[in-house]
Parts: sequence; C-alpha cells; structure tokens
Amino acid sequence: MRLDSNTILITGGASGIGLALARRFARAGSTVVVCGRRQEQLEQAQRECPGLRAIQCDVSVEAERTALVERVTRELPGLNVLINNAGIQNRPPPLVQTQDWSRHRSEIAINLEAPMHLSMLLIPHLMQQASPAILNVTSGLAFVPIALMPTYCATKAALHSFTLSLRHQLKDTPIRVVEIVPPAVNTDLGGKGLHDTGAPLDDYADHAIAQIEKGELEFGYQFSEKGRLSSRQELDAAFAALNERFEKSR
Ligand SMILES: NC(=O)c1ccc[n+]([C@@H]2O[C@H](COP(=O)([O-])OP(=O)(O)OC[C@H]3O[C@@H](n4cnc5c(N)ncnc54)[C@H](OP(=O)(O)O)[C@@H]3O)[C@@H](O)[C@H]2O)c1
Repeated sequence: MRLDSNTILITGGASGIGLALARRFARAGSTVVVCGRRQEQLEQAQRECPGLRAIQCDVSVEAERTALVERVTRELPGLNVLINNAGIQNRPPPLVQTQDWSRHRSEIAINLEAPMHLSMLLIPHLMQQASPAILNVTSGLAFVPIALMPTYCATKAALHSFTLSLRHQLKDTPIRVVEIVPPAVNTDLGGKGLHDTGAPLDDYADHAIAQIEKGELEFGYQFSEKGRLSSRQELDAAFAALNERFEKSR
C-alpha cells in the first residue's frame, strides 16, 4: 500500500498507536482525519501533527458512527482508507464477583461493534475509490487471552474472526482488508503506566507502517507475531505461562 496518496480515517487516532500511524501517513503525504471522544486530546494531536483533521465522536454510539461516516465522506470525498483503531481495555474484578455490566458492554461496543459497523457503513463508499482498504487493529491477546481481561480479549478474538470473514467476502472487490496485531506497546491503554513495559511506541509504529507499505495482510510484532503463527499446542503453553505471570503480578 502506498503511504503518500491516501485519505484516511483513523478512529482513536489522537493518541497512542493511532496517532503514531497518523503521523507517519501524514508525513508521507496522505490526508488523515482522526476521531475520539476527548476534544482536548484531539487538539493536542493536531498541535503535534500539522495538517491533521480531527472530529469529536464516540464510536460506541450508533448515531455518532452514522454521522461520522456521513461527515467524512462529504468533507473528504476521496476517503479511501478506514483504520479501525479505537479501543479501551478494562481490568474488571474477577468474574466470580458482581460485575458492572455497563463497563463490559461499552468495551464490546467500542472494540467490536464500532469496527464492524463502520466497515459496513463505509464499504459502498470505499468501493468507488482508488486503492481502498480497511485496517483493523486487533491484539496478540486475540490469540492468547489474559483471563483477567476476559471481555477485552474476547472482543479482539471476535474482531480477528470478523476480519477474516470480511476479507473473504471482499476478495473479489478492490478493498484490501488488513489486520494489525500489536503486542503490548507503551501507550496509555487502560490507564497511565499499565503498558510501560510494552514495546516502545515509535519502534512498533515504524514496524507496522513498513508492513502496511509492503502490503502484508496480517502482521504482528514480537509476542503477537509468535502468537498469531502458533499451533494450538503452543497457544495452550503460552496461555498457561502468560496467565501464571499475570496472576503472580496482581
Ligand atoms: N497498547 C497496547 O499494548 C495494545 C496492544 C494490542 C492492541 N492494542 C490496540 O491498539 C488500539 C489503540 O490503542 P493504544 O494502545 O494506542 O491506546 P490509546 O492511546 O488509549 O488509544 C486508544 C484511542 O481510542 C480512543 N477511543 C476510545 N474509546 C473511544 C470511543 N468510544 N470513541 C472514539 N474513540 C475512542 C481514545 O480516545 P478518547 O479516549 O479520547 O475517546 C484513544 O485515542 C486499541 O484498539 C488497542 O486495543 C493496543
């Protein structure tokens, strides 16, 4: 995929991995619009990335998704790439305890419902564009879940599955469907400090943008590259080791 000639919508692109990709696409010459809930974060991203367009939008709300698509396709009729990146990560109490369902529900709405619906809303528009693509950001935890984050991991596994079906259904169209599978990356996902031991953001984003440019359809990095290519036996061993480590550190 060329980096210099796209018009790209990146959900959740005002921070973390989304912003790191936005900067790289913008630097190469693409037009980038990001969305997010926090206006001050959108403005901060625009200061850090000159030329970045920003729209306040909560992608967990169906009407806001519809309005977002209507607005970006009207204001940027050449929009040819959707990057479904917005996500949250909750660490709920163990499932034997009483749960606040609304937190699980919003995690499902943001991480899974939004990318599914935004893809469906934009397919007719993307079909009319040159070099169209949908890029979904899943996670290494789609392949090896951390049991203490059951809903987060389930949303990412489901988005991986949806991405496979989407790619298959669109195989005779010009729309490329790409899955970006990050490992732990040092961002503020889930709250400040929780991902400090993850891969440095710029190292990860440099790797990801190189894979996108090469035309890879699915790619991980370190832990997630190993995970996505593992046998069932290897996945079971990784699950046991990861969960033992997490339970000890809790
Ligand atoms: N960092 C990691 O270790 C890691 C690993 C694997 C996968 N990922 C995935 O990578 C993606 C980006 O995460 P990140 O690590 O870059 O964390 P991040 O910096 O927290 O980015 C998440 C972005 O999503 C936006 N967002 C959240 N809820 C939203 C909503 N309802 N509507 C619109 N935007 C929303 C946030 O902005 P607002 O809060 O302003 O809305 C934020 O800009 C996520 O899908 C995450 O699951 C991350």
